[in-house]
Amino acid sequence: MKKAFKTLALILAAIMVVMSFASCGGTATADPSAANDTTAAIAETSPAIADGILTVGTNAAFPPFEYAGDDGKPDGFDIALIKLIGEKIGVEVVIEDLEFSSLVTSIGNKIDAAIAGMTITEERLQTVDFSTSYYEAMQYVIVKKDNSDITTADDLKGKTIGTQLGTTGEFLAEDDIENANVKTYDKAIDAVNDLRNGRVDAVIIDRNPASVFVGQYPDELKIAETVVFDPEEYGIALPKGDAALKTAVDNALAEIKASGEFDALVEQYINN
Ligand code: ARG
Repeated sequence: MKKAFKTLALILAAIMVVMSFASCGGTATADPSAANDTTAAIAETSPAIADGILTVGTNAAFPPFEYAGDDGKPDGFDIALIKLIGEKIGVEVVIEDLEFSSLVTSIGNKIDAAIAGMTITEERLQTVDFSTSYYEAMQYVIVKKDNSDITTADDLKGKTIGTQLGTTGEFLAEDDIENANVKTYDKAIDAVNDLRNGRVDAVIIDRNPASVFVGQYPDELKIAETVVFDPEEYGIALPKGDAALKTAVDNALAEIKASGEFDALVEQYINN
């Protein structure tokens, strides 16, 4: 199955290369000089990408940052961003779709890095390093549209709260909300569906996915807008101590921000 997909992708890529030759008078689109020389040179000393491949884990069920595209392959803001970073540092990016809760511990074995709307936390920093932050987030509370009794964080006390396993939403519900009955789900959308079915009273999840999910069921759900938590920062998780990789990724990120490419991705994937 996987192999068949790969073969198909290779054939498609070959066709695209031929087409690009045909359409722009012999200039191939894949230009190796797109890799910034200094950044690429730094990247070359990283053990994680010595093979020229950056294998990146994600959890493609967190729109708009990552989701399964029409072809079934992971797509979204994070995926586009990490591919652009790969171009800048001169490596091939291979995406692996995994459970969110397994990402951090998979770095250094199954994967070289993870991009998954992942909040930089002290706890995760014990195990991995993070790139500089690239996006500000916040936990949001989703409730049924007709709910009028959850308007402050205090109102969540003793409630049944749905969260995605291993996320900051889960930790917040467990650590900061008294007597909460926290239910965890491998996929955030399953928590949302249990809210629709009345099996949980609220779902705690990051702001942008919360807006996407509520947007899918606007007659059933709403964001409890007056419940506000602390801001969080997303970073790309990297192997602990691989300074070359961190420097290369941070340089690439800075370049992408300075060039306007970052804002273009925000427009394309998040503000659309
Ligand atoms: N920002 C939250 C965290 O770091 C949730 C991220 C969930 N991401 C995902 N791709 N499912 O814990």
